[in-house]
Amino acid sequence: MTDLMLDVRGLDVTFGSTTVLHGVDVTLAKGRTVGVVGESGSGKSTLAKVLVGSVRPSAGHVDVDGVDLVNHEHTSMRRYRRRVQMIPQDPYSSLSPRRTIGQTLAEAINPIRSRVSDHRDLIASWLERVGLTPDMMHRYPHEFSGGQRQRIAIARGLIIDPDFVIADEITSALDVSVQAQILELLAEIKESLGITMMFISHNLAVVQRVSDEVLVLYQGRVVEAGPVEEIYANPQHWYTRRLLDADPGSPGFSLAG
Ligand SMILES: Nc1ncnc2c1ncn2[C@@H]1O[C@H](COP(=O)(O)OP(=O)(O)OP(=O)(O)O)[C@@H](O)[C@H]1O
Ligand SMILES: [Mg+2]
Repeated sequence: MTDLMLDVRGLDVTFGSTTVLHGVDVTLAKGRTVGVVGESGSGKSTLAKVLVGSVRPSAGHVDVDGVDLVNHEHTSMRRYRRRVQMIPQDPYSSLSPRRTIGQTLAEAINPIRSRVSDHRDLIASWLERVGLTPDMMHRYPHEFSGGQRQRIAIARGLIIDPDFVIADEITSALDVSVQAQILELLAEIKESLGITMMFISHNLAVVQRVSDEVLVLYQGRVVEAGPVEEIYANPQHWYTRRLLDADPGSPGFSLAG
């Protein structure tokens, strides 16, 4: 037994002749949140895809909660995919327009026994937990705002009590004030449930809101990693300093302002 959720060392990912992750190291203790920040194309989503098991590492050691993602058996991945949940960036395209929210959540809970009536209490309690109301389980995705849909996507990711959650740019499509509300919600859920999370964004201020640690990716390499406060107080790499300078959310500014 280990208290590490992530033990990633020397991870390379290559597509054809292009290497998009170079020797990435990440360790994350259970119950902690690591923020991953970096500009577009730096390899953030690729790292996420490796961790959910949809992209194969080209080299390195990748262990998630004791599962070796480099040398795994195909059959063990079914269970793994329930234990590790990704909250998508765009909940509109990932929520089925023909299913009510209740049906979508019931199916997440149990794809075989997926009647809403089988899971009504759990669905109602999660809708409340993410700031919605139980009666909304009867509505369809188009009847919600972008922020509300993101709340539904969070509920869907967490309702099956996963061991590890990856949120990839989940606030980038939202207005700044709605973004702040979603971050508050995540921070609150993280506190109360003690979940282990990877939180990805190109915005350092957003990452800082919900993370204990930060990993800065630049052109597929980790250029800086450490506790949030340290990175803010004493950034070592020029790219991190540039992110802090460019950041309207760095100290002195309010994200919601
Ligand atoms: N399946 C693939 N085949 C070839 N190249 C890919 C593939 N997936 C990603 N890439 C390339 O890998 C690099 C990293 O992409 P990735 O999506 O991980 O970046 P990102 O940091 O998530 O960017 P963004 O902030 O825009 O979401 C990019 O240059 C991208 O074009
Ligand atoms: Mg991405």
